[in-house]
Amino acid sequence: MTHLFEPLKIREVTLRNRIGMSPMCQYWAEDGLANDWHLVHLGSRAIGGAGLVVMEDTAVSPDGRISSGDLGIWSDEHIKPLARITNFLSIHGAVPGIQLGHAGRKASCSLPWEGGKPRSEGRHLELDEGGWEIFAPSAIPFGDERPRIPKEMTIEDINSIKEAFQYGARRAYQAGFKFLMLHASHGYLFQEFYSPITNHRNDQYGGSFENRIRFLLEVVRLVRQEWPETLPLSVRLAAQDYIEGGWTLEEAIQLSQLLKNEGIDLIDNMAFGAVATGAKVPFGRAFLVADATTIKQSVEVLVAASALSDPDNGTQPEFINEQIASGNLDLVFLGRELLVNPYWPQQAAKALGQTDKISLPVQYAHWLK
Ligand SMILES: Cc1cc2nc3c(=O)[nH]c(=O)nc-3n(C[C@H](O)[C@H](O)[C@H](O)COP(=O)(O)O)c2cc1C
Repeated sequence: MTHLFEPLKIREVTLRNRIGMSPMCQYWAEDGLANDWHLVHLGSRAIGGAGLVVMEDTAVSPDGRISSGDLGIWSDEHIKPLARITNFLSIHGAVPGIQLGHAGRKASCSLPWEGGKPRSEGRHLELDEGGWEIFAPSAIPFGDERPRIPKEMTIEDINSIKEAFQYGARRAYQAGFKFLMLHASHGYLFQEFYSPITNHRNDQYGGSFENRIRFLLEVVRLVRQEWPETLPLSVRLAAQDYIEGGWTLEEAIQLSQLLKNEGIDLIDNMAFGAVATGAKVPFGRAFLVADATTIKQSVEVLVAASALSDPDNGTQPEFINEQIASGNLDLVFLGRELLVNPYWPQQAAKALGQTDKISLPVQYAHWLK
């Protein structure tokens, strides 16, 4: 039985344990540039013992930002401050990961705490409020707090975003990241293409399953060319839309096989009904695990999931370990638990009798042994 504290080797990269910090937008950048906040935010989770630290959704083009506070990677200027972070994470034993994305029709929002509902992203900003033009496969608005109608992307728009992902991957490598995740969930651009709810195109990028997944597959192909063979590549996708007539688990399985064929090593299921309003999501502890496991049983690919904590009982080490030990998942992603408790991996190692598998930095360990 595999244990939570057993290393995971993916290609030539070894994670010291199966605990990943889930990507979490901080909305604290200017012009997409990483700063001291990002260094401390991510660095403290490396010190805390996570095997993998995935930096938040990082926009491959300025129009792909959810808000003006998003991190970006659309210019060479972004590389240096990111390299400072990857260097720190590596020194402290965590594999530095990055998530690349484009928010599609959900871009151009306020900062979450400036106009959004509690615990939700911000509201759409109009052009005269500091917003920018938004794009999507079809000119269909999301609704709710994001009512703006996106521009239907032309083939030139599609090609330019594909190239932005390719250059983003190149810069991510130059900045020292060792794990790359494409953000194909949350109802952002990739999901807007593969979901029939948001994609009503009549060209080669819409209609059939093959056409709706084309954009993601083409990006993966370009990114895999840039991203060294020795380094892991993953996709966070939504295993289903939870909307009648929407994207299904069967399609997600088929897509996962095609992604695997293109060199994707790990699929992370993050389906929470974010592609359109009205989704019926079976929320509950570990609700994402069953679909991730189904993908794993159908396709020879590593799988991960997040949302594993229990609102009443917190993040229980035994339960998290069980997800790995039972073969449900290969890697767990923790989000909010690590926000309040960067040392969860240390505490979990103690609770599971695995303290020999984890170490504190010498600056701390010397006084605590
Ligand atoms: C503040 C915050 C920001 C988030 N930003 C991102 C993000 O940038 N990319 C992403 O894929 N998911 C994002 N998420 C989702 C988390 O990565 C994670 O999947 C989710 O919170 C469920 O896991 P948890 O219950 O352990 O928090 C965010 C969540 C939070 C709380």
